Amino acid sequence: MTGAPQADLVIVANRLPVDRVTQPDGAVSWRPSPGGLVTALEPVLRANDGAWIGWPGSADDDEFEPFEENGLSLIPVAMSAQEVEEFYEGFSNGTLWPLYHDVIAKPEFHREWWDSYVSVNQRFADRAAEVAAEGATVWVQDYQLQLVPQMLRARRPDLRIGFYLHIPFPPAELFSQLPWRRQILEGLLGADLIGFQLPGAAANFVRLVRSRVGHKTHRDTIYLPDGRPVKATAFPISIDTAGFEELARSEAVAERAAEIREALGNPRRIFLGVDRLDYTKGIYSRLRAFGELVRDGHLDVEDAVFVQVATPSRERVEQYRILRDEIEMLVGRINGDYGKIGNPAIHYLHNSYPREEMAAFYRAADIMVVTPFRDGMNLVAKEYVACRFEDDGALVLSEFAGAAQELRQAWLVNPYDIDGMKSALMDAFAAEKRETSRRMRAMRRTVVQNDVAKWAADFLRELEELPEHHDKTVRRSRSS
Ligand code: ADP
Ligand code: F6P
Repeated sequence: MTGAPQADLVIVANRLPVDRVTQPDGAVSWRPSPGGLVTALEPVLRANDGAWIGWPGSADDDEFEPFEENGLSLIPVAMSAQEVEEFYEGFSNGTLWPLYHDVIAKPEFHREWWDSYVSVNQRFADRAAEVAAEGATVWVQDYQLQLVPQMLRARRPDLRIGFYLHIPFPPAELFSQLPWRRQILEGLLGADLIGFQLPGAAANFVRLVRSRVGHKTHRDTIYLPDGRPVKATAFPISIDTAGFEELARSEAVAERAAEIREALGNPRRIFLGVDRLDYTKGIYSRLRAFGELVRDGHLDVEDAVFVQVATPSRERVEQYRILRDEIEMLVGRINGDYGKIGNPAIHYLHNSYPREEMAAFYRAADIMVVTPFRDGMNLVAKEYVACRFEDDGALVLSEFAGAAQELRQAWLVNPYDIDGMKSALMDAFAAEKRETSRRMRAMRRTVVQNDVAKWAADFLRELEELPEHHDKTVRRSRSS
């Protein structure tokens, strides 16, 4: 492939921030990619004037040239249909995703998926090696690319390499199921700095490196036998808080929020859920809890309505198809049993929306319900808080979302406990204005002080300042 411009900051992520869509007439257009990674990193790339290497989201396209889209310098990496199946849907989302999320679904282990993971990671590493300027910083993202740091270092020892994991990192007891556990740990150790959402995840990693690879460690530092230190520590990710607030304050969003409330029949309270349609997000249990409250007469459909936005996600993966069917059946059942003409209990939207529309949903909703069984962070919770500039609105939040470590003033729930969720929904429904304001004010302080610009600046500064060598005497690692 021909040369891309050399960059001093290179972001390497599985997906580009935009997906390539080919229309029936062959015309090509771009639409924003789904997920929190893109939301978080797009403003970082804009501010730092770097390049972004990633997959354009389609299969079997010919490799095409680097391009500019909406002011971003993008470098596509192509995948064949077989690689999409084995690397993306297979090893990334059928093995690692469930394994790293508490084994909520059963991970599958297939050797051909692993082979594809290795070869696609090598392609990303090769592309990064070509694009990075001498001494550049390369920031590799997420679970799909855990071998890239080591592969890249082998070709370009001059680079500063960072890695950030956007999802949880599991405890040793679960991670150890992985037949390729040692290769993954060594892949990550190619980075100088490895960032996690929470301190517990960083501690899980360091413990595994000590026990499975045999390297010397002290607190958050790993001492490699070749004299290079690797730091593994937490950097909780965030959002463009000011950007979301500005959007929420705009006239257009205020009008749209009023329109949404009106269209829903101006109920006393609007509950809102916004998630990728993923089994980690706890959508089914949350809707069940709401449905039971309506069934038992605690909530009336003229008084309270639930809007569930479910973003289409990984639609060719079997477990995601099953989940979609289950949720749609449940929504149908609840609406059939308890809805009235003009007043369904649940409004279900299986669609993606522009940021303005998301901000209007957040402004229109009185109670945001975020109940994942496990989530690295959950940016939706932070976006809701950012949009509530009048210090109103309630957040019901799973204690198993990374965001719960920061947003302590939310109504915290255990998503496995349906009765507990029902109580929290009712408490939030009935809360006095004074109570919701007190909680929201405190949460807003946290999200304003810790935005995505600070997250990126903290990570990149730490990466810059890390020493290149340690002076510890360490023995060669043993195999395990
Ligand atoms: P994940 O990374 O697992 O998808 P997060 O909550 O961290 O979960 O991030 C989701 C991101 O996707 C948020 O920025 C949210 O605004 C955005 N998003 C979610 N649903 C939609 C949708 N239907 N349309 C547009 N953006 C969405
Ligand atoms: O961090 C969560 C994440 O998995 C990102 O890596 C990913 O880009 C996003 O969610 C959406 O998932 P996908 O790229 O599989 O559509």
